[in-house]
This record gives sequence, C-alpha cells and structure tokens, in this order.
Amino acid sequence: MPNLPSLLIGLCLSILTGLFLRHYLQPKKQIHTPPGPKGTFFTGVKDQLSQTPWKVYAQWAEHYQSPVISFWVYNRRTVVLNDHKSVRDLLDKRASLYSDRPKSWMYHELCGRGQSVFNISSLDSRHGKYRKLIQHGLSGRSVCDYHDLLENEANIFVESVTRDPKAFQHHIRRNVAAVIMKIAYGYSLTENNDPFIRVAEESAQISGWALTPGRWIVDYYPIVRFLPSWFPFTHFKRQGERWRKQLESLSDVPHNWVKKQMKHSNYEECFTTRLLRPDEGAEAEDIVKWAAGGLYAGASDTTVSALTSFILLMALFPDAQAEAQREIAEFCGAGRVPAIVDLPHLPYLSALYKEVLRYAPVSNLALPHRVVQDDVYQSYHIPKDSTIIANTWAILHDPAIYPEPFEFRPSRFIDNAPMLDQHQPHYGNLEDTNHSGCSKRSDNSDIETDPDPRAYCFGYGRRSCPGMRLAEISVLLIMSRVLSQFQISLPVGVESTPQVEFTSGITSHVKQFDITIKLRQ
Ligand code: HEM
Repeated sequence: MPNLPSLLIGLCLSILTGLFLRHYLQPKKQIHTPPGPKGTFFTGVKDQLSQTPWKVYAQWAEHYQSPVISFWVYNRRTVVLNDHKSVRDLLDKRASLYSDRPKSWMYHELCGRGQSVFNISSLDSRHGKYRKLIQHGLSGRSVCDYHDLLENEANIFVESVTRDPKAFQHHIRRNVAAVIMKIAYGYSLTENNDPFIRVAEESAQISGWALTPGRWIVDYYPIVRFLPSWFPFTHFKRQGERWRKQLESLSDVPHNWVKKQMKHSNYEECFTTRLLRPDEGAEAEDIVKWAAGGLYAGASDTTVSALTSFILLMALFPDAQAEAQREIAEFCGAGRVPAIVDLPHLPYLSALYKEVLRYAPVSNLALPHRVVQDDVYQSYHIPKDSTIIANTWAILHDPAIYPEPFEFRPSRFIDNAPMLDQHQPHYGNLEDTNHSGCSKRSDNSDIETDPDPRAYCFGYGRRSCPGMRLAEISVLLIMSRVLSQFQISLPVGVESTPQVEFTSGITSHVKQFDITIKLRQ
C-alpha cells in the first residue's frame, strides 16, 4: 500500500499533468479529432450543457459544420454523432468497436453494478450471454405466450382510468410493472404499494443518483478511490459502500422469491424458472439473476415514457386521435375492443406509434457507448476510450430525412410501414429495420425520407434494445384500448397550447400538462 502523503502528491501531480496535457498538448497531436467547443481547464464543457443537451449538441454540430463533434467533459473525451449516417457507420457497422459502455467508477465499481446488463462491458463474455437469454425470452414466439397476460392487464388499465382518469400516469406505471414482474418472475402485483415495486423503484433511484454525470469525482479521477474512507472529501467511498450493500440485497429479493416458489409443484412458469437449472452452478444462476433484473430496468421507465407521451400528444393532436379511432371502429365494429390479433390490421395505429416515438423520443440521447480502440472516421481521429453519444433527437428531427420534423404527422409512415406480424419479427435487427420500405427523396439523393424511426429509438449496435418487440405489442395494445374507450383533450378554456418539453435524465419524459380524459359515448 502506498503511504498517504506520497499518494496525495501522486494524485495532485497526475490530475495536473492530465489537465495540462489535455489542454495544451493534445490539440496539436490530435489535430484530426472532430471539432467542438474547448471548454474550461478543469471542467471542459460541463457548464455549457443545459437541461436539453441534445439541442445544444445539434447547435454545435451546425456551428462547426460537422455532424460529428467532440469536446471534453472534465477529463473525458466525448464524441457526439448528430446524423443518421455517422450513427449507422460507427455504432452499427463497426459495432465490435463501438458497443462498450463508458466506465462509471462510482456505479460500476464502488456500488458493484458493473455486471448489470446495461453496464457490463461488451468485451465481457457475459454480455453476449445476457443478450442471448433476453432475446430468446422476448422473441416473437415467446411474446405470443404473454398475449393473455397483456390483454388482462390492458382490461385492468382501462378500468382504472375509467375510475380515476386524473391518475392515468400512475395506472400506466402499474400496468408496465405488472406485465414485466409477471414475465420476469411470475409474480402478481398486489393492489397498492407492492413490496416488489418498492424494491425495484428503490434500486432505480439509487442507480440514478450514483450515475448522475458530474456528481462523483471518482468517475473523473479514479485514483481518488485509493484514499482512505476517513479522509476529507471521500464521502463518495462511504456512500458507495452503503449503496453496494443496499443494491445487492435489493436485487436478491425477487430472485430468491422465485427460487422459493420453485420448491412447490404448482409454481408459475416465467423467464427465471425457464432458465434456472439447479445443477448448473452459481455462475449460471448469477447470469440468470442479472438478465431477469435487466428486464424490469429496461422495460419500466421506457414503456411508461412512450405511453405517457402518447396520451399527452393525443390531447394536442385531435385529428390524429380521430383518424386512429375511426380506423379501430371500422375494423373492430361497434362495441368490440381491439385485441392483439387485430393490431397487424391497423396501419394508422402503427404509424401513430412510430410518430409518437419519433416526435417525442423515449431516449433523446440513447445510452452512452465507448469505443474500445483508436479509430478513424472520414478525416477524424476518434481516440480509444472516448464516450460516444448518439443524438437520436437530432436524427429524428433532421429535416433532410423527416420533412417538417416539428409537425406531428403519423401519415408520413403510412405508405412505408411494414405491419406488425406476430410470427415473423421482421425488424429484429437494425439493418432490417433501417431498410424496410423507406421512400427515396424526390431529388434522387441517397437519403431516404421518413425512415422507420424504430431503427433509431431503440438504440444501436450490440447495445440495441432486446425488448423492442415486447415494448411494441404492449404499447400498441394500450394505445388501441385507450383510443377505443376514451376521448382525450385539453381542458375546456385552455387558451394557449402547451409546449412539448422534456425532462432531462437517462429516459426522456414529456413534461406533464393538464389534459382531460373522458369515456367516449
Ligand atoms: C418503448 C419502449 C422502449 C424503448 C424506447 C427502449 C429503448 C432502449 C434504448 C435506447 C436502449 C439503449 C441502447 C443503446 O445503448 O444503444 C435500450 C436498452 C435496453 N433495453 Fe430497451 N427500450 C424499451 C423497452 C424495453 C423493454 C420492454 C425491455 C425488456 C423487457 C427492454 C430492455 C432493454 C435492455 C435489457 C437494454 C440493455 C441492452 C444492453 O445494454 O445490451 N427495453 N432500450
């Protein structure tokens, strides 16, 4: 162990040397890194990032006349990809280089979450194993097994909204949690204040705190992790240790519950029970535990965000609402609510889903990736270890590919929308999705207009969302039920139309405004 004074001197020297090299020497050596703002000596551009960084990045891309820009946030090189081409070229076509995650020392190491599906390194063989299990558990065929569950929960959702329409967001949260808890653990939610949901929400809250960018010095200067816990300014060490213990015991709760159920002969089949084999040892069990944990983490906030956006946007765009209601009434006939088997026959509904995802992306900036070796793209040098951010919002609002991007217009997807088919998942990988039936621009350039936004909103490369299919069926079903049962509008007397604004955070949520939900006559 190094002694304390020499550790401190070493620490100060390494921070200052790092900052000096970054600020004064690197621009000369790395003349070809993508352009971008310089920022200040200590924090880089951190203080220039507003609550809506996706807009700031898009403005910088315009200012520097390059869709690929780069800058420092503290001592981390960040590269932002602001157009569809660079995202495809790097994150998808060079997925083996660009699918890692940047390391959060606080969360991954001190809190012990480095093994989770979202955070594990793409170079770790476990990452592929997790994805295989999840993709298999949520494949088109497996999702068919969940149709009854989804429809029953949709009935409960409609009853709850009928009873208490003002609490629609609470009902959405409950619906999403009920579906995913049943799929992952075979667990049925209790009515209110469910203990498993409390556990999951507590984990999500701690994770949010531990992952807050710029909050933990150890994320930027990892050498400080060697300081003793009693030393001033090492609150992060004690906090990390507390959170590690809490998160460990929280993630064991649902897993141990399933194992206990499996001792009874009539236990409920689910993702975890199908994969657990008592004779396969602790490592195999651990993989199943983390994979199942990834389901709740992946499904909860994202699906809630998409459904909440849908309901709020229906209040703003009554014509789109009326068109979807007309289509459902025509296909299902009077008095019959849509079922999952009806969904492939509702093209306008499918286009509406895509337009909601495009107009109000669930993840404006996807999740950060990391490049694992030095790379060259066009004339730019992309240094190893750079954090790579895909500006999904900028792509989905790029007028070159989505004409009039700030118009909410589901019909843009009507002619080129491949319909959801329950047995043939034709957009299971991104390459398929990107090229599915998009129309070429009339000026004969190679850019397709109005490409399927699912190719962007569900992420990229080896990190793309493995829950896309389940998400789609769950969201479309709830959308169809809401449209067939309710009329959504702005409250009578509202003078100005609310602006669509987003919360900042890993998942983007449209900020709530007042709406009225009434049963249709
Ligand atoms: C509308 C709903 C959803 C949206 C928009 C969405 C979007 C995303 C995005 C943007 C990512 C990050 C991709 C990247 O880093 O490039 C992601 C990852 C992930 N999603 Fe989803 N998601 C949704 C629903 C779901 C559902 C229902 C599940 C599971 C049941 C799920 C499970 C996951 C998992 C496990 C990952 C991590 C993949 C990895 O890091 O390898 N998601 N999702």
